[in-house]
Amino acid sequence: MHIVALKSPDSRDHRSVIHPDTVKKIIDLPGVTFSFESGIGNGINISDQTFIELGLKAISRDECLSQGSFIITPSSLTIEESNKIHKGSTVLGMLNPFYAVDELKALNQSRINVVSMEFIPRITRAQKMDVLSSQANLAGYAAVLEAAQHLSSALPMMMTAAGTLKPARVFVIGVGVAGLQAIATAKRLGARVEAFDTRDVVEEQVKSLGAKFVKIDLGDTGQTDQGYAKELTPEQIAKQKDLQSQVCERSDIVITTAQIFGRPAPKIIDQSTIKKMKPGSVIFDMAVETGGNVEGSIVDEVVNVNGVKVVGVSYLASKVSSHASFALSNNIINWITDFYNEETTQIDFDFEDEVIQSSVLAYEGKIMNERFA
Ligand code: NAI
Repeated sequence: MHIVALKSPDSRDHRSVIHPDTVKKIIDLPGVTFSFESGIGNGINISDQTFIELGLKAISRDECLSQGSFIITPSSLTIEESNKIHKGSTVLGMLNPFYAVDELKALNQSRINVVSMEFIPRITRAQKMDVLSSQANLAGYAAVLEAAQHLSSALPMMMTAAGTLKPARVFVIGVGVAGLQAIATAKRLGARVEAFDTRDVVEEQVKSLGAKFVKIDLGDTGQTDQGYAKELTPEQIAKQKDLQSQVCERSDIVITTAQIFGRPAPKIIDQSTIKKMKPGSVIFDMAVETGGNVEGSIVDEVVNVNGVKVVGVSYLASKVSSHASFALSNNIINWITDFYNEETTQIDFDFEDEVIQSSVLAYEGKIMNERFA
C-alpha cells in the first residue's frame, strides 16, 4: 500500500497530516511505502529532509495523486484532482462532508473509496481517531488567546500598588469539546467564567472547571444517542437569546461555540444583544466558518459594532499548528493501523465494524452513508 500525504491547499491552514513523531508507527509495517507532498511540514517547521530521513519520499502533488493507493489529506480534493487518482484507491481525511458534497460524489464516481474522519463515531474505542475533538480542543484554547488579544484589559485579577484590577468576565456559550477547553483556558488565565449549553448534563463539567453554569430554562432540549445537541425550535432560540443577553451585557469576552452536528451553526447572538454590550468588549464566534453563531460575524475579520468587536478566525487549530498536526496525524495513523491487514497489505473494509460503517462514505463505487445517497 503506497500511502501519500497531501498538504493543505489553503495558505491559512498550516497543519500537516503527518508528523515525525507519529509516522514512525507505520513506516515499518510490511507492505507499506510512504510518500508526501514536498513542503508538507513548512507550517510546523519540519523540513522535507526530516521526513526523508525517516524513510518517506518527497514527491509533487500531482505525483501523490497519480501514484498513491491510500491518500491522506487535511481537506477535500477538487473534482479535477479526483480524475488523477487511480480507480480502487482510497482517500481519507478531513473531507468537509457537509459542504464538499459534489467533490465527494466525484471521488465515488471515479470508484475511489472515501473515508471521512469527521464521521468517526464518538465512542470510547474511537476516541484516538476523533479528529473533530482533537482539533476543537486546540481551537477552544486558541479562541481564548485570540479573544484576549482584542481586549484592552488583562484577564486575571491583579492587586497592585496602583489599585486592584478586576478580573475579566468571560461567557462561553456551547460546552462541547471546544467550549470546555475555552472555559479551562480562560480560568487558567484568571478570568471569571460563566458558561451555558442547551444540554444541562454539562453543568457538572462546567462546575468542575471552576466556572459558573448559567441556567436558562428552554423546556425540553435533550440530546441524541451520540451525545450531540438537538436543534432548538425558533421559540426556544428566541427565549435563549433574550435571557442570555443579560449575561452578555456583563461580560468582557463572549465565546460562542454552539453547534448541531451536520447543521448550519445556530444563530444565538443578534445585533440587539451586541448593541447592549459594553464598548471594548469582544465576541469571538468559533462557528464563523459554518455560518456563524453571531449575526454579522465575518471569517477572518473584526467587525466593530458600536465599539464591540465581533471576531471570526479561520482554521483556529492551525494557530497551534505543531500540536494540531501531531494530534491530527495520530488520529489518522490510528485509523490506518487499526484496519491495516499485514497479510494482504491492504485495509480491511469490514462493514460489521462500527468505525468503518460510520467513516467510510463510499466503497467500490457504492455510497455507504445515507447522507450521500
Ligand atoms: P461540539 O458538538 O462538541 O459542541 C457544540 C456544543 O454546542 C454542544 O455541547 C451543544 O450542546 C451546544 N449547543 C448546540 N446548540 C446550542 C445553543 N443553541 N446554545 C448553546 N449551546 C448549544 O462542537 P465542538 O467540536 O466543540 O465545536 C464547536 C464550534 O467550534 C463549532 O462551530 C465548530 O465548527 C467550531 N470549531 C472551529 C474550529 C476552527 O478551527 N475554526 C475547529 C474546531 C471546531
